[in-house]
Amino acid sequence: MNLESLKQPVYNIIADYNKSVEDRLTAVCEFLKSSVDYYNWVGFYFRNGDKEELKLSSFAGEPTDHTIIPFGKGICGQVAVSNKNFVVPDVKAQDNYIACSINVKSEIVVPLFLKGENIGQIDIDSHAVDPFSEEDERFLEFVNEKVAEIL
Ligand code: SME
Repeated sequence: MNLESLKQPVYNIIADYNKSVEDRLTAVCEFLKSSVDYYNWVGFYFRNGDKEELKLSSFAGEPTDHTIIPFGKGICGQVAVSNKNFVVPDVKAQDNYIACSINVKSEIVVPLFLKGENIGQIDIDSHAVDPFSEEDERFLEFVNEKVAEIL
């Protein structure tokens, strides 16, 4: 997958100042989900005010019950604390994991920084085992940097 070719369209979506930030984030999720065959659920979680928890913002894919995730819980909650990318090639091998769907085999979570502070993350679930590479990490870091510019 040539993720490099997706950067410009992502940038164009984010720079569409006629739309609300929320609509642009949803459009980014939908674009990523439809462009990469192993991106089966794409969402943004953000810190919920001053609480030690994440709240689901925009997403594309099946609705999830896990709209609030306490810091430290699941892959997402661990990234809220670690400030580091978390690539999970096989979710079955994780103890601290929150299952959203039986179809999900792998997951990648990349923190989103605003002025150096971890304020949220992009979370991608895949139905494939071990599909994510460093290219995905670098690409999703780019997406988050661009999103941070409109927050
Ligand atoms: N699997 C995540 C929960 C969020 S869903 O993937 C949408 C986790 O373990 O944090």
